[in-house]
Amino acid sequence: MAKILDDLSRTFSEYLLIPRLTRKEHLPRNVSLAAPIARFKAGEASRLTLNIPVVSASMQAVSGTDMGVALARQGGMAFVFCSQTIEAQAAMIAKIKAHKAGFVRSDSNVKPTATLRELLDVMKKTGHSTVPVTEDGSSNGRFMGIITDKDFWEFEDDLSSQVKGYMTPKEKVIHGTVGITLKEANHQLYKHKKEALPILEADGRLNSLVFKKDYVDHINNPLELLDPRKRLVAAAGINTHDYKERLPALVEAGVDVVSFDSSDGFSEFQKEASLWARERYADKLIIGGGNVVSAEGFRYLVEEAQLDFVKVGIGGGSICITREQKGIGRGQASALMEVVEERNRYFREKGVYIPICSDGGLANDTQIIIAMAMGADFVMMGRYFAMTNESPTPKVSIKGRIYKPYWGEGSNRARNWERYVDEKGSSRLHFEEGVDGYVPVVGSVNEVLAMTLEKMRATMCNLGSKTLAEFTQNAVLTLVSEQSIEEGGTSNIIKVDSKFDDDT
Ligand code: IMP
Repeated sequence: MAKILDDLSRTFSEYLLIPRLTRKEHLPRNVSLAAPIARFKAGEASRLTLNIPVVSASMQAVSGTDMGVALARQGGMAFVFCSQTIEAQAAMIAKIKAHKAGFVRSDSNVKPTATLRELLDVMKKTGHSTVPVTEDGSSNGRFMGIITDKDFWEFEDDLSSQVKGYMTPKEKVIHGTVGITLKEANHQLYKHKKEALPILEADGRLNSLVFKKDYVDHINNPLELLDPRKRLVAAAGINTHDYKERLPALVEAGVDVVSFDSSDGFSEFQKEASLWARERYADKLIIGGGNVVSAEGFRYLVEEAQLDFVKVGIGGGSICITREQKGIGRGQASALMEVVEERNRYFREKGVYIPICSDGGLANDTQIIIAMAMGADFVMMGRYFAMTNESPTPKVSIKGRIYKPYWGEGSNRARNWERYVDEKGSSRLHFEEGVDGYVPVVGSVNEVLAMTLEKMRATMCNLGSKTLAEFTQNAVLTLVSEQSIEEGGTSNIIKVDSKFDDDT
């Protein structure tokens, strides 16, 4: 006979936190939001630590190159979507890795004989205003000089003239030589008040460029998440179908973290794929997966599939109709608490800590904070990031307000990409697990995250905690009745911004 669980499926909005003693040292500026992402033994450290406990979902409407760059700069990461061709996804990862290396390979170059019109095309296409001039127009050609958008006037100069008549020639360009440290290169930029420093090889070929803006970015983003070579950390979603081709391409592009993207990850498919990846890449790659909603599912992915982190959540996503369509899922708070308890048991038994990610259904900052208090190490969100400027979708105006489209990976819209790679894909019988809609635009990733994280730090102080581990340890939660939810909102007053209608 079917087993019926005693518990009720609960969601985050049904809980509140009880404050604990706040000591004088519990100030938001003393709080660390660092979170582990890879399994580790007691007494050791995670192979990679997020500087903020937030990642974006592997979804077409959420995580592309811009999100990857923006989130890594804030200290988190974006899981670049896998519902696209292997080449396109690997190119996005390569772009994130190339974004900020200190020493950047120049990807817009011209020959001295190029016309100003051709140069302008390059500048408009790449958005770069400083372009090295090399003998053959390649990124590693003999360095001849440099030209910027300040060296000519688009509407005054004859655009059929050649670049060599306008560029600053090599003899007059302040440059460095391979072997120079990043610190020395930045010092040269500062000393000579330059925006870019070309780095040349001993034989005079162009090697790379160092930009002042990268230095400034680094100062402005002290939490940015970097790999040992000082490049931004990049993450990608993967599936259990084409991993033997996709993973090598992603690793070649420089990916640091991958995660299986599946609404139900408690499967032999995920185990087989994960073990294949582990055998091939050992500990060099961080491999996560899921999703699960039970202790049993968690154990399987940890013991059998050897995953580094496990994602929890089925059916809670804002665009998700999995529960309606298939009848599987669980209230996100109940699922998370059961998995966290099992994780803690596993740690006591084996001395190995497995980070947990709460994925989907986080509708506001309070719910993010409750998820962290319940023991999630980090959270994954789709809608939250779909609403930012950096999501890969265009802005649209509807009735005077600005929106962006947002759709589930299980919607027909997302699945359409398969038609281009799998002829059978278009004729297979599908039922949708996701919907297609719009979300309002709220600003840039750093603006919205700054507010969320400030609230998280403040709540951590209310609970007498300076780290996320202490926060979970100190957390005391209470279930709330509908009446107490109403009591927690504003009531019985006329709000300043409300209209004084007859019935108010
Ligand atoms: P959100 O933050 O509530 O928008 O949820 C995002 C999460 O929903 C993702 O990280 C996925 O786990 C999940 N998800 C994405 N697309 C679909 C879908 O089409 N159906 C069901 N769940 C989805």
